[in-house]
Amino acid sequence: VGVSSEKEEVRPSQFCGSILSKHSESRGDFTILLSNIVLGCKFVCSAVNKAGLAKLIGLAGETNVQGEEQKKLDVLSNEVFVKALVSSGRTCLLVSEEVEEAIFVPPSKHGKYIVVFDPLDGSSNIDCGVSIGTIFGIYMAKDKDNATLDDVLQPGNKMLAAGYCMYGSSCTFVISTGNGVNGFTLDPSLGEFILTHPNIKVPSKGKIYSVNEGNAKNWDEPTTKYVENCKFPQDGSSPKSLRYIGSMVADIHRTLLYGGMFMYPADLKSPNGKLRVLYEVFPMSYLMEQAGGQAFTGKERALDLVPSHIHDRSPVFLGSYDEIEHIKELYAACK
Ligand code: AHG
Ligand code: MN
Ligand code: MN
Ligand code: MN
Repeated sequence: VGVSSEKEEVRPSQFCGSILSKHSESRGDFTILLSNIVLGCKFVCSAVNKAGLAKLIGLAGETNVQGEEQKKLDVLSNEVFVKALVSSGRTCLLVSEEVEEAIFVPPSKHGKYIVVFDPLDGSSNIDCGVSIGTIFGIYMAKDKDNATLDDVLQPGNKMLAAGYCMYGSSCTFVISTGNGVNGFTLDPSLGEFILTHPNIKVPSKGKIYSVNEGNAKNWDEPTTKYVENCKFPQDGSSPKSLRYIGSMVADIHRTLLYGGMFMYPADLKSPNGKLRVLYEVFPMSYLMEQAGGQAFTGKERALDLVPSHIHDRSPVFLGSYDEIEHIKELYAACK
């Protein structure tokens, strides 16, 4: 599908809103929820594009529950998504990286969906204009009028859908509703996301590894061995290239398209790694599996984790099928 080609006609079926429910019993709730998420992404994209002009770079002056200093765009993006999700009338419970407690939506706005989200991923890259993003995952509540934390403290394999929007050289929206992964690019002249990357499949092998090597001193043995092997392969193959942006959205987007390995492993200082289970590890693991790759924590399939708290963290290895098989073998050999 190439909307850049002059010959190619842009059909309605190529727009983001149209990939939605094929179920005859559906009443459009998911479509409305998703169109509000997409609206939030367009709003944040516009703010990111003019951040330097609109005095949106720099610190907001507060610290979040993770102990991180919030940037102005972290705060703005959080407000945008909370408002977009509550006003959709299709959610009952929200979890955001930037809000300490789960948000229970007022009864008058209740809907059956639960949304977990990282409103702005890659905050450290905002002020220098490097790609950043938004990550989200969607669950269904058992009873929309009596949602509890247990509805969200579920394994990632219970997610109905997950996705991200990358504010990069173009604005790209990637989503899975459990039937493969599709990528859409925002056409700024139309204000619509157009299907540009249908049915994304991650190559089964990859030539790139992606990790913050500044933490190498504190890594465990399997991680150290894996990275050593990327640089000095013993089987006669070429060394891998290192790419690390420091925005999970951008690092995962590249991994989905080119293959390879992205990891944020455990280390001595952070035994649970850095990335948060609900709104970073789970949505990206869901997408990676839906694209034919794998996601592993060092102990188990990432989507089988059951978080105990909404801001729990976990080590994670995400990427090409064969790369994850390799790291699994290294962990198995270390037991
Ligand atoms: P956030 O900006 O939402 O807090 O997430 C930051 C995360 C993630 O985007 C990235 O993969 C990781 O932090 C980078 O961490 P290091 O700076 O420790 O490499
Ligand atoms: Mn943060
Ligand atoms: Mn993040
Ligand atoms: Mn964030």
